[in-house]
Amino acid sequence: MTPLLFTPLSLGSVTVPNRIAIAPMCQYSADDGSMTDWHLQHIMRMAMSGCGLVIVEATAVERRGRITHGCVGLYSDANERAAKRVIDAAKAVALPGTKFGVQLAHAGRKASSQRPWEGAAALKAHEDAWPTIGPSAIPFGAGWHTPQAMTDDDIDGVIRHFVDAAQRAVRVGYEVLELHMAHGYLLHSFCSPISNQRNDRWGGSLEKRLALPLAVMKAVRAAVPPHIAVGARITGTDWLDGGMTIEDAIVLAKGLKALEGAYACVSSGAASAEVRVPVGPLYQVPLAEKIKAGSGIITRAVGLITTAEDAEQILQDGKADQIAVARAILDDPHWGLHAADALGITLPRAPQYDRASPAKWPGARVNAR
Ligand SMILES: Cc1cc2nc3c(=O)[nH]c(=O)nc-3n(C[C@H](O)[C@H](O)[C@H](O)COP(=O)(O)O)c2cc1C
Repeated sequence: MTPLLFTPLSLGSVTVPNRIAIAPMCQYSADDGSMTDWHLQHIMRMAMSGCGLVIVEATAVERRGRITHGCVGLYSDANERAAKRVIDAAKAVALPGTKFGVQLAHAGRKASSQRPWEGAAALKAHEDAWPTIGPSAIPFGAGWHTPQAMTDDDIDGVIRHFVDAAQRAVRVGYEVLELHMAHGYLLHSFCSPISNQRNDRWGGSLEKRLALPLAVMKAVRAAVPPHIAVGARITGTDWLDGGMTIEDAIVLAKGLKALEGAYACVSSGAASAEVRVPVGPLYQVPLAEKIKAGSGIITRAVGLITTAEDAEQILQDGKADQIAVARAILDDPHWGLHAADALGITLPRAPQYDRASPAKWPGARVNAR
């Protein structure tokens, strides 16, 4: 019997050939939002990984919504052209059925920061820092920029930027759009009482805190054709007293589902600099399980899922419909193919690489004794 991990799944109108997604991962290697040759090789490799869905890194919907100077965007014609070059090339080498998506994001109060290898702190003035925006004028942590509390016009502008970027993404050739509602970035910062202390239609009650993320989902869904799937990455918990809870997240997931959201990918943490996430193998799977049971939306689990056996078990137990891997695929860019080998099936490889398939040679034994 085919392992569940290698059965197809419908995300709205998009069918992915298996249940492995590559989670979005910033590469901090763009030039004013435009992908470079780094992205060309990176996404081409991901296209041959054996994972059914490749979600491209957090992609800023406006220039000031980039996390760092190196983040990808879709706010200009040049950005769109550069992304199209990469996605066209990746599709040309992709394994059969592989789908491509992009995570549309606005970094909000966590924008204007250094690349991880430069310190990951707020940019200093001499590093060409820019002003940030957020629901309230509360910084992410000590030493971070204080965002400007957004006006109604700013909020309308952000919704428009998400729509414009979504339309650019469709022209690039992405079939899955993932709205970033996690990790303390703008849409999550509206959901969380830690960062949203407004008392207007965009804050106060849970319903009002969720109003902007849901307005973005509604506007993007309405602006792109039906053959495009629109989902979201959400926060299962802030891991902080007084922060967003799993119950709040279930309400968000129900709201997304009601707006024809194709799926929720369940992450957590990063609402403020003081958050400590209890990271360990499969640590966010219980959150995904609760979201799936509580909302009925198609649910993706992510977070230290590193073995094929664990991935298969999560699906067999009905805890999620799909799993995502991030660091594992950076370490082993053929993780999807190797997961298939481990579960006893063989996926087609690029013909150029076929002589390395398990039926034809015993496999690399770097650590063999
Ligand atoms: C290099 C790197 C970049 C990341 N960039 C993003 C991103 O753009 N958007 C996002 O939602 N999460 C991002 N993440 C988080 C991952 O998508 C994933 O949720 C996290 O690494 C946990 O999964 P893992 O244990 O399989 O690595 C990033 C993680 C890494 C390691």
